[in-house]
Amino acid sequence: MTNQTQYSGGYAQHTLNEFSKRSMDKEGRFFKGYVKAGQTLLDVGCGPGSLSIQLADMVGSSGFVHAVDVQSEQFPALHADNIRFQKASIFQLPFADETFDAILAHAVLYHLNDQHNALLELKRTLKPDGILGIRDAEFGGDVCYPKVDGLELAWDIAEACFHVAGSDIYFGRKQASSLMKAGFEIRSLSASYDIFCHASGYSPEGFSLFWQDYIQRHGNKTRYSKEEIEHAVVTIEQWGNHSDAYYGRTRCEAIARKPL
Ligand SMILES: C[S@@+](CC[C@H](N)C(=O)[O-])C[C@H]1O[C@@H](n2cnc3c(N)ncnc32)[C@H](O)[C@@H]1O
Repeated sequence: MTNQTQYSGGYAQHTLNEFSKRSMDKEGRFFKGYVKAGQTLLDVGCGPGSLSIQLADMVGSSGFVHAVDVQSEQFPALHADNIRFQKASIFQLPFADETFDAILAHAVLYHLNDQHNALLELKRTLKPDGILGIRDAEFGGDVCYPKVDGLELAWDIAEACFHVAGSDIYFGRKQASSLMKAGFEIRSLSASYDIFCHASGYSPEGFSLFWQDYIQRHGNKTRYSKEEIEHAVVTIEQWGNHSDAYYGRTRCEAIARKPL
């Protein structure tokens, strides 16, 4: 397997809106204090670009945001002038050494099968003293309610799908050691939850639909039978339709500095 573009977790259209709501006040809060007017930023693995657009607003007309992703079909059609969306891989960024004041990789690194080389490429393009912010899933800390019969197996199948796609859903706990091995200096470590429930603004139905679609697309590459996969889809649908449904997805966050 090459480390270029094995990402298989593309958003289905019906869940795109859910994940387009990412906000610098919520998901990007850990990084917000490092963004200043006039900076040149990179949003790597930018997806639909909701964070990139807010970053462009924060750096203002004297700053600039480069937003890159391997899946360019997600890019927004309309955006401000101080932002450029470009198809590129984190492993081979089309930028000179020491270009960026700061880089954000939100929900990206854990999808890769070679975080070390990705971090080295980010370090190459950061200016000395530049800041990298990463936020990754850590399935070990997730909470899910209520218990629906078969749900545990369904989440195991979802996890197996991620595994065959080359993602490391336990990368959150490895952020600090990975950053240090890549030569970064840790500035802060934190964790927070993305919460899917009827009161949070991120619906459990949307979350459930994403997983139904994901398991249907990738379940056949796992060791689970067709029947188990079909049952998992129905179970996740039942959970998503429950009025009390609540899912807390753990996200580990790290701010690191490139030494002088
Ligand atoms: C979970 S999404 C996060 C998108 C965005 N950062 C956000 O938070 O809304 C992960 C993104 O990483 C991108 N990705 C996966 N592998 C990549 C690679 N090798 N280089 C650049 N982007 C990649 C995917 O295409 C996808 O858009």
